[in-house]
Amino acid sequence: MSENKIRVAFIGCGGNARGHGRRIAAQPDAEIVGICDVSEAAIQGFRETVDLEARTPDFTDYNEMLAAVKPDAVEISTPHTLHFQQIMDSLDAGCHVLTEKPMVCTVEHAQKVIAKVKETGKHLMIGYQRHFSPTYMYCRNVVQSGELGKVHFVTAHQCQNWYRSQKGKWRQNPALSGGGQLNDSGSHLLDILLWILEARPKEVFAMMDYFDTQVDILTAMTIKFDTDALCNISVVGHTAGSMREDVTIWMEKGTLFVRDGKLYREEQGTGMMEVTEKQLPKGGEKDRAFLDLILGKVENAVDASNGLRVIQLTEAAWQSAKTGKTVEVEL
Ligand SMILES: NC(=O)c1ccc[n+]([C@@H]2O[C@H](COP(=O)([O-])OP(=O)(O)OC[C@H]3O[C@@H](n4cnc5c(N)ncnc54)[C@H](O)[C@@H]3O)[C@@H](O)[C@H]2O)c1
Repeated sequence: MSENKIRVAFIGCGGNARGHGRRIAAQPDAEIVGICDVSEAAIQGFRETVDLEARTPDFTDYNEMLAAVKPDAVEISTPHTLHFQQIMDSLDAGCHVLTEKPMVCTVEHAQKVIAKVKETGKHLMIGYQRHFSPTYMYCRNVVQSGELGKVHFVTAHQCQNWYRSQKGKWRQNPALSGGGQLNDSGSHLLDILLWILEARPKEVFAMMDYFDTQVDILTAMTIKFDTDALCNISVVGHTAGSMREDVTIWMEKGTLFVRDGKLYREEQGTGMMEVTEKQLPKGGEKDRAFLDLILGKVENAVDASNGLRVIQLTEAAWQSAKTGKTVEVEL
């Protein structure tokens, strides 16, 4: 194994980890030096999908792996409530961390992670890949440049056949998932809106339906931001169709419409015009961005503060749905 390569280890070898594994394995300046999962079948599946070298060791205890392999970096793809301790232990072991979303499942844990990142001086990135999507990068650039004026209203919805597809699995067990669809795919939507707007939720009101499960399946949420922009978010975890995501951002001089990956822009008298590929910024890929962050080539595009903002909003929504009251978020 080359000493010049970034030595990456994996905690969690399930479905999502394998995409990360293939991307890391394809990078000339990185190598996978260890993998860990509590399931032998997951380890075997990862080995086959990623085409891992037979000599790469595998482990069932991630602390043993950290001690034995001493990786430079760790990628975490495990059930949500496990992220916190795995992040803390990996940072303490001197590793940079790319953790899958949501970073953690409570505000208290997010604050502890932020303190640990500061204490260790290591990088922590979150796997919110929309930060590297040309469509959402374009939206952020337009909003942040102010070229279409101030944002006054945002609507966003995401739907997924989640209630049925996750029945009986860890995602519907709060001890492992930390919450329902809002904390799972829904966390991508909250994150990207907060990133585009760079605004802080001031007041949050939410209603939820859990159906016969212990976690939120449907969420209807209304937000007032500190910029006075209003926002409606719908997370629909019970649909007969495929996963879809729409975002609309109304500004004083124009509107941006994200419709299933396509982007449209409308200004006074222009009608809805599709934003062409040529007009979009160059996107990226999160595993490459993580390696470039470690190499000091780029800034962190998704740091622990993004994880904190998402869980602050998620906790406020859960609290509002529970109490039936509007929650004032601490700014
Ligand atoms: N960014 C994205 O678009 C995206 C997409 C899918 C999943 N994810 C995230 O990836 C993570 C994993 O999701 P998934 O779909 O791969 O789930 P999965 O069930 O396929 O894989 C999770 C794996 O973690 C393993 N595991 C459980 N406890 C462990 C422990 N203590 N130590 C080591 N391994 C352990 C399980 O055995 C399993 O193999 C979640 O955080 C999820 O939200 C992100």
